Parts: sequence; structure tokens; C-alpha cells
Amino acid sequence: MMNTIPSKSNQKIANGQPVDPRAAWKNIIRKYPLLSRIMQFVFDPAFVTNQQRGALLEGLATDSRVLNLGSGAKRIRVNIVNLDIEPFGNVDVVGDGQRLPFADGVFDLVLCEYVLEHIRNPLQMAREIQRVIKPGGQLYMTVPFMQTFHGNPDDYQRYTISGLSALFDDLETIECKPYAGPTSALCNMVKEYLAVVFSFNSKLIYSILSQLLIILVFPFKFIDYFLVRNINAHNLSFSLYFVAQKPIS
Ligand SMILES: C[S@@+](CC[C@H](N)C(=O)[O-])C[C@H]1O[C@@H](n2cnc3c(N)ncnc32)[C@H](O)[C@@H]1O
Repeated sequence: MMNTIPSKSNQKIANGQPVDPRAAWKNIIRKYPLLSRIMQFVFDPAFVTNQQRGALLEGLATDSRVLNLGSGAKRIRVNIVNLDIEPFGNVDVVGDGQRLPFADGVFDLVLCEYVLEHIRNPLQMAREIQRVIKPGGQLYMTVPFMQTFHGNPDDYQRYTISGLSALFDDLETIECKPYAGPTSALCNMVKEYLAVVFSFNSKLIYSILSQLLIILVFPFKFIDYFLVRNINAHNLSFSLYFVAQKPIS
């Protein structure tokens, strides 16, 4: 693993308190990639298939260069450069997405999944992503839309389809559609609502309930296997995926 900057763990602290106490639990699980994938498939309130990401990776030539920005501990393919601000297992470059340690136009594909909302200066990160993509290269990004607060290390914003196209205005939008659909959004809202009501003002009880209550709601998320294709689903989706291409000239 190549360290370019030190870990930013101190960003987790605001006014002496963790911004989101659940982030510590999630980061422990992220250290174990297999456990992380099992937990995400079963207990995450969102149902996703990753078909679009798979199709993009399949379409690449074997010598293509791919960056996974904000990878966490997830190794999607062996030859992908994993960059994260935290030194999780499987991270190749510890660095900040707002100041990428790469030359211009070096990547055929940049993957950036559920990271943008955690970035203090998203415009700066968008500029950096657009800079490191080759002419003709692509961006695949997922962002939350109807999703509750989740600080890792913090949570700054949400995006619509128009908002993403406007942010990446040097790229041509190819596709922007629901990633996890409306039922995932509802599962997430219901378990968070119940956790808030039954935590009786305790941050500790809230943090435990918000994890445990997933067991009650997660089976419903599989409805999104069908609902995600509904043409109105983007109005109420848990998250969106965005595919865009850098013009050749
Ligand atoms: C919600 S996790 C998503 C992880 C992974 N992409 C996935 O889909 O499982 C957000 C990730 O972004 C990373 N991150 C947050 N701020 C970052 C920054 N400024 N630069 C690079 N990575 C960052 C976090 O450490 C965390 O691993």
C-alpha cells in the first residue's frame, strides 16, 4: 500500500463528538471485505445489482486503467487502483479525492460509489475527477438521493439527476437512473424513524436501534428488483447511478 497523505481520522470529530457514531462500527466492518459484502447484501436497507458497473468494466480493454475513488475496503477487480482517505485493507493509495495524486488524463474509467456526499468541496472533487479521466474515458458514480444522514466521516449533500449533470459539466451525460429504488428509500426511512422514536433521546440507543431495526425491514428491499425500472422511480429513489464520458476533443 502506498501512503500519500496521513489518515484523516481526526475529521470524524466535531465539537469533541463523532459526527455519526455509527461510522465507527461501519469502518470496523469495512476492514473485512468479505464480511462487508455479506453485511451489505443482506442487511443494507438498499437493494442494488451493479449491472451497469459490470457492463462498463466488461467493455474495457485489458490494459485499461481504472480508479476506484473512495473505495473503502472493497476490491472490485484486481487491476483497479483503490484510493481512499482512510488506510482500509485493499486501499492502494491513501489520498484525498479533492486533490488526486495523478497526472491529467490517465484513467479510462473512474468509479466513485457513495463518496460525493461525504466531500466538503464536491465541485473541487468533480474538477479533479474530470481532470484525471482520459478523453473518451468514463465516470461511473453512485450518489444517495432519498437517504437519511450518514456521516463517514461527515455527510454534506444530496444530488438529483440535473444536479449531477450540472456538476460534471465537462462530461457528456450518458445515463442517470435509480440505483437503489423507492422501496429501499422507504425501508431506510422507516427504520430510522423507529430508531429516533424509540431511542428516547439517547444517542447510544439510537445507534444500536438504527442497526438492529434493519432486520425488520430488509426483506422488503427486494421489491426494488422490479420497481427500480419504473419510469417515475427516480423521484423517490434511495440513490442514483450516473454514467458520463469525457469528450474526445
Ligand atoms: C460510504 S463509503 C463508500 C465506500 C465504497 N465506495 C463502497 O461503495 O462501498 C465512503 C468512502 O469514501 C471515503 N472518503 C471520504 N472522504 C474522502 C475523501 N475526501 N477522499 C477520498 N475518500 C474519501 C471514506 O473513507 C469511505 O471509505
